[in-house]
Amino acid sequence: MRSANSYPVEPGRRSVSGALLDSMSEVTPVPEVVYLNGKIVPPDEAVVSVNDRGFLFGDAIYEALRSYDGRLWAMTRHMRRLARSLDAVDLRSADVDEVRAAIEETYQASEIPNALVYLQITRGVAPRSHAYPRDLRPTVLITVRDIAPVVAGIDFDGEAAVTAPDLRWRRCDVKSTNLLPNVLAKTRAHDHGAREAILVDTEGCVTEGTSTSVFWVAQNRLFATPGGPEILPGITREVVMEIARDEGIPVLAERVTLQEFRRASEIFLTSTGHEVCPVIRLDGASVGSGRAGPLTLRLQKGFRARVAVGDDEPR
Ligand code: PDD
Repeated sequence: MRSANSYPVEPGRRSVSGALLDSMSEVTPVPEVVYLNGKIVPPDEAVVSVNDRGFLFGDAIYEALRSYDGRLWAMTRHMRRLARSLDAVDLRSADVDEVRAAIEETYQASEIPNALVYLQITRGVAPRSHAYPRDLRPTVLITVRDIAPVVAGIDFDGEAAVTAPDLRWRRCDVKSTNLLPNVLAKTRAHDHGAREAILVDTEGCVTEGTSTSVFWVAQNRLFATPGGPEILPGITREVVMEIARDEGIPVLAERVTLQEFRRASEIFLTSTGHEVCPVIRLDGASVGSGRAGPLTLRLQKGFRARVAVGDDEPR
C-alpha cells in the first residue's frame, strides 16, 4: 500500500531513508520528509492541533527554497527574509538560527539532490481568540520533497499568463500563509490554460504574479516592479537583478500600467520554482515576438551559471 504522502519515483532517482519506506512495497516511493516541532516524523504522524493559529487564522510565516544537486540554494537570503517576515508579524519566539539548523538536518536526512524545501512557522496553539498570547511555542514544520530540475527547452520555452485583480492585503512584502487571493487567481489562470496570473492593483498597475516576481522589457530597457509593501522581495528577483547589474544592464524599478505592460517586448517571471520563466502570451495575446526574448534568455543563462557554481551569497 502506498502512503497518501508519497508518490512514485522516476527510475534512477534516489529515495529517502529506508526506515520511512518500510511499509511501502509496491513502488519505490519518495515520501515527503517531514520535520515537525523538533524532530523528523513519518508523514502520516505529522499532526497539528485544530487550535493551531496557522490553521485557524493563517497566523503563520513561510519560506520555500530549493536545492540543486545536493546543496541548498540561497539559504542565507531565505533566512534573512524569514527573519524580516517574523519580525513584521511580531512572531519573535522562533529562533532563525535553530530553524536554519533544522532545515539543514531535514534536508540531509532526505538525501534528495533536487528538493523543494517548505518551511512554515505558525504562532502556535491556543484556544481560538483573535488576539494572541505572547508566550506560545511556535509550530515549526519543514517538508522536503523532490522537484524536477529546470530543463532548458521545456521550462525555457515560455509560458502563458493571464491578468487578475490583486485582492491581497497591504503587506505583500511579508511571506505570510494568507494566500487565498493567490490561490484563487492561480487556479483561475490554470483554468484558462495559463501557468500564472499576473496581478493588477486598484490603480491599474502590475504588482507581481501569484507566486512569482515580474520583469519586462520596453524600448530595450529592463524593468521590474518597485520593491515595497506591494510585492514580495523575491530571492530569485534579487539574484536576477545582481546578474543584470554584473552584465551592465540597468534594472529600472517602475510602476507600470497594464496598458503599457501589454506593449512590452519581453515579460518574464522569477521564482524559486520557475527560476527565470519567459511569458510568451498574456491574456491570449502574444508578448513581443511570441517567443522568449534575448534579454530574458541572457538572464536565464546568467542564472543557470550562478546555480552551476553555487554563487548565492548575498552581495
Ligand atoms: N513563492 N512573489 C510571490 C507572491 C511569491 O509567493 C513568490 C514565491 C515570489 C518569488 O520569490 P522567490 O524568488 O523568493 O521564490 C514572488 C513561493 C515559491 C511559494 O509560494 O511557494
